[in-house]
Amino acid sequence: MNDNFKMIAKTFFGIEKVLKEELISLGAQNVECGKRMVSFFGDKGFMYKANLCLRTALKILIPIHSFYANSYDDFYHELNKYEWNKYIGLSNTFLFDSVVSGNFFHHSLYVSQKAKDALVDQFMSKYNKRPNVDLKYPDFRFHIHIRNNKCNLLIDSSGESLHKRGYRVSSDLAPINEVLAAGIIKLSGWDSLTNFLDPMCGSGTFLIEAAMIACKIPVNLNRDEFAFEKWDDWDENLFSLIKESQLKKVIKSNTHIYGYEISKSVLLKAKKNISEAGFKDYIKIKHIDFFDTKKSNDKNLYLILNPPYGERLKGGINDLYSSIGNTLKKQYSNSDAWIISSNLQAIKNIGLKPKSKIKLFNGKLESRLLNFPIYEGTKKK
Ligand SMILES: C[S@@+](CC[C@H](N)C(=O)[O-])C[C@H]1O[C@@H](n2cnc3c(N)ncnc32)[C@H](O)[C@@H]1O
Repeated sequence: MNDNFKMIAKTFFGIEKVLKEELISLGAQNVECGKRMVSFFGDKGFMYKANLCLRTALKILIPIHSFYANSYDDFYHELNKYEWNKYIGLSNTFLFDSVVSGNFFHHSLYVSQKAKDALVDQFMSKYNKRPNVDLKYPDFRFHIHIRNNKCNLLIDSSGESLHKRGYRVSSDLAPINEVLAAGIIKLSGWDSLTNFLDPMCGSGTFLIEAAMIACKIPVNLNRDEFAFEKWDDWDENLFSLIKESQLKKVIKSNTHIYGYEISKSVLLKAKKNISEAGFKDYIKIKHIDFFDTKKSNDKNLYLILNPPYGERLKGGINDLYSSIGNTLKKQYSNSDAWIISSNLQAIKNIGLKPKSKIKLFNGKLESRLLNFPIYEGTKKK
């Protein structure tokens, strides 16, 4: 694996463009956007760097085999011939994950089961022993992507999803996925110098991701493990060199990054996460109602907020969104506000005209990221 090879970085719908930019600035080659993924080329060291540094990728997969199959039997026979012991030994554990679309294959679970049988049967016929499946912490995760009769086998270099940065000790309500939060900050075009406020900060995800961007901290520095550490060609020295060179880029930031939260118990959890991420002295959070606050100086301000989207709110969800619009207009002029919500009805009550609307998915929930530049004299609709 010393030469360049193809890799696939998986991400969320709507984040592909910023992931492509991240990859290019890290030094990836032949970068191309697809749907919920970006493909690129690099060597083993770049694979380590991508896993360590990419803020907007969920996984880095490596295509290792592709073939055509018209039936489950064809599929089984092709994978039964594959040289599995290039990757996996008898004492390793493994897992298959499949995504299928098109006319030939309809059951992703059955596809995974067939792939497992093909691998296990090959080991049994050679050694009369087999590696075991581990649903939670497998040594090797293989992905199968099938579109019509074209089957791709990929190996997962990341292991657990890269949104698991290692700083979340506590969450409450509905924390936004870390990869989505970083993607939203990047989509907003925040320059990391303008002061940054999340006035409904929940568990603090936007604040922590923003602080890591401002300080140029490799985002997966505190992760326990990457899948590639279990591979035969794991090069610990190379990984340490890459880590050290990324750490040299870390800076101290003077940008003010701060948050508000109305719930005391949620605020305590945000404090734990912020402290775990190493930002106890940098990110400031306060127990206060956003609607009782106002911008404290003339400097430009970026606000990113992810308001509650549920219906069970005192005063009603429509009033909450209307108060957000009023607060921004009356108390936050000279700000650039970005709101992500999956309540597509409630956002109409903000009452300000969005400059842009971006479609995203928060988990399975279709959402909108809306931008409201707030000037002196910004009017409610
Ligand atoms: C959807 S959650 C935000 C989740 C957050 N992005 C995260 O990653 O954890 C919305 C948060 O807004 C808080 N909130 C609701 N109304 C508020 C208000 N008027 N002022 C400040 N915080 C508020 C809620 O307590 C809740 O924690």
